[in-house]
Amino acid sequence: MSSAASSVSTVRHPKGPIEPARAPDAGAFLKAVFDSSVGAKILVALTGLGLVVFTIFHMIGNLKMFAGPDSVNAYAHFLKHDLGALLWIARAGLLAIFVLHIILAIRLKLRSVAARPEPYQYPGRVQSTISSRTMIWTGIVVGLFVIYHLAHFTFGWMHGVEVAPGYEMNYLELKDAKGRHDVYSMVVAGFTSPFIAILYIVAQVVLFVHLLHGIQSAFQTLGLKNNRFASAIKLLGFAVAFTILAGNLFIVFAVWVGLVK
Ligand code: HEM
Repeated sequence: MSSAASSVSTVRHPKGPIEPARAPDAGAFLKAVFDSSVGAKILVALTGLGLVVFTIFHMIGNLKMFAGPDSVNAYAHFLKHDLGALLWIARAGLLAIFVLHIILAIRLKLRSVAARPEPYQYPGRVQSTISSRTMIWTGIVVGLFVIYHLAHFTFGWMHGVEVAPGYEMNYLELKDAKGRHDVYSMVVAGFTSPFIAILYIVAQVVLFVHLLHGIQSAFQTLGLKNNRFASAIKLLGFAVAFTILAGNLFIVFAVWVGLVK
């Protein structure tokens, strides 16, 4: 063996054998983000803001009730039949962020309770509000409302409409003159019942309380609520939560009192 060859085979790296470069592991990174409280908080903030954006657009769409049956039915028809695969991608994305938001928020709450079984004593409460202290409960109520709401209007499982004495029709069978799903009549039928109208009103108020703290808290988690912008973010949170409350309540009341027939 030549001396050059033997010197190559006996060279050792001072810190041991050089490890081959590992391919970046996306799964491990995601797991670390989910497991860390900071990562989970950021995901709760981002998914929460995503749900707020959906709720604003949904409310604007629902306000088409005031433009008459043709307007709201055409809008619903467009969303359901003209978007193709996009509709299912949007629905899957919405479901994913909804589930992620709930699971991570509940896990964070359970972790914080486990870390501090005794609640903070004075003066820790000075900064908190009813809205911030009840986030987990208002969130659970809103989640249950959404499940009821889907069963009510999207799946038509809950109630029917009496179209002739003794003859009930499922919400989803209602058709307008152009053969489209009659979303207008479905919503009117829905809120004509005082029980359902009250249930929706209560849910909208609970959603308002949840968003009142939720929106500004999300901005804070994302590092956007510094001293300079604190009051502007607080005002923005209130304005968005109140707009959603007012828009949705307006629809329920308008049907209930017969303004929309
Ligand atoms: C008074 C207030 C509301 C009214 C009148 C209303 C009305 C409706 C109607 C009519 C549909 C079915 C649309 C169709 O089948 O074509 C629907 C679906 C839905 N609503 Fe609402 N909604 C209200 C509030 C809310 C709120 C506050 C949320 C969430 C926090 C929400 C979340 C949803 C979701 C996730 C769907 C299913 C969307 C899909 O089919 O992909 N809604 N809503």
